Amino acid sequence: MAHLLLLENVFSTSHLASWRWLVGLVIIAATKVLYNIYFHPLSKYPGPRLYAASSIPIALAQLRGNWHTIAKDAHDRYGPVVRLSPNELSFISKQAWQDIYARRNGKPALPRDRKFFNDMLVEPQSITMMNDADHSRLRRALNPAFSTRALQGQEPILQANVDLLMKQLQARGEKGISSDLRTWYNYTTFDLIGDLAFGENFDCLATSRFHEWVELVLDHFYTSTLLHVVHRFSPLHKVLAMLLPASLMEKRRKHSEMALEKIRRRTSQISSERNDFAEHLMRAVGEGTIISAELDSQATILILAGSETTSIALTYATYFLMTHRDALERLMTELRANFSCEDDIDILSLNRLEYLQAILQESLRCQPPIANGFPRQTPKDGAIVDGHVLPAGVSVNVHQWAAFQSSDNFSQPEKFIPERWLGDARFLKDNLDACQPFSVGPRNCIGKKFAYDSMKLILSRLLWRFDLEFENKSDKTNWLQDQAAFASFHPPSLNVVLQKRA
Ligand code: HEM
Repeated sequence: MAHLLLLENVFSTSHLASWRWLVGLVIIAATKVLYNIYFHPLSKYPGPRLYAASSIPIALAQLRGNWHTIAKDAHDRYGPVVRLSPNELSFISKQAWQDIYARRNGKPALPRDRKFFNDMLVEPQSITMMNDADHSRLRRALNPAFSTRALQGQEPILQANVDLLMKQLQARGEKGISSDLRTWYNYTTFDLIGDLAFGENFDCLATSRFHEWVELVLDHFYTSTLLHVVHRFSPLHKVLAMLLPASLMEKRRKHSEMALEKIRRRTSQISSERNDFAEHLMRAVGEGTIISAELDSQATILILAGSETTSIALTYATYFLMTHRDALERLMTELRANFSCEDDIDILSLNRLEYLQAILQESLRCQPPIANGFPRQTPKDGAIVDGHVLPAGVSVNVHQWAAFQSSDNFSQPEKFIPERWLGDARFLKDNLDACQPFSVGPRNCIGKKFAYDSMKLILSRLLWRFDLEFENKSDKTNWLQDQAAFASFHPPSLNVVLQKRA
């Protein structure tokens, strides 16, 4: 009996203790929520209350893939600056682009938000993670690989990959099989960048299959969202990261290993002159501008940064052309006025076509691959962004989709109208500079020209050769609805019946 009483006593004491803990935690959480809403240095900024209260709602939105719609709705409702989590502000104006991403009045551009660009994401020696001094050194080493001259030298590699894409699509069309252009563009851009970064492609186009590595890269985009979410809860991020599926981190490791193996194979071919990205990097190692470990990390990042983004952009451009027959006709007229056959199509001439350029710009405005932008953090002496004086340590960002779809920046923002980029009188008040899908400043996209060149070549040759029809008629109206965005937009399959033009 005495034993039982003792046990009951112990039980109720531990019960009470755990209740005390729980009540304590609830009080701490409630105090934090109240502080965040009413007393935090950012409490004066407008935005949804729930999101100002804690980082949990925005983390959940990121995991669901709708961070971009939350940002857009908030901007539509509250204006050009909104608070999306206790310590995070989103901007949409063209001035914000300059204040956040560019060098201003001799001051360096704002540093990257380390919760987003965390060291679990990519190797510390990759260009995206480097400090400003190392970053400028590396950009100088990489720039020649992306110069107009270098890109002209790379054209045969581009054309050869597009030849194979056309051949494969034509064979499928002749057999009456539809093609998922989302996947075929992925095959093409991965093969292309693999060819240029490693001197060998992934054989995706040749085998009509994803190389194991490409799948690793695609997973990486989702993993990067998970890692960002986990880092939102620092200092608990290390513990939370342990809860992530081990397979994801294993894939990341495997990806780096495979990249290393490929780049080592390429760099061992000292004699081969291909005018590719690898060759320019090898030259920089020879000149002592970068060390060979830095070269290894850049090849990986080029694949990550260049392939999926370009294929997403191409998928959307194709969709918009298929759903805007007037724009397609105008583009075809431009192509026919400049080329007499598909073999004539070359990048130099394509770069003179104004309407083609406008189509791509408008498509990137309507559906920018990097839907949510890349956040920066205010430095220790704070910063002024779009006229707002901000304290240190605030995460600031231009949410691309929210900015490009805002009626503050564009009239009829939800409509695909390439003419707005060509001086059409209806759009003279548009803030074209608010649309920066490749970002601005010292860390903007180094591959911007390469991306435009390859998109122009692929799209023009595809449209020259084929008539495109949706396999599922309902895609014409439904395909664009409710697409998720993680590190980038995540378009679904775009199944198209391709018929060779007469
Ligand atoms: C439509 C296609 C593309 C889009 C929309 C895009 C977008 C971007 C954006 C927004 C950034 C800025 C990142 C930041 O602010 O932190 C960036 C950086 C970068 N992009 Fe692209 N990109 C595209 C294609 C490419 C291609 C084809 C390559 C290479 C072949 C490439 C290589 C890079 C690299 C290396 C960086 C990092 C630059 C640095 O940190 O200095 N991108 N890209």
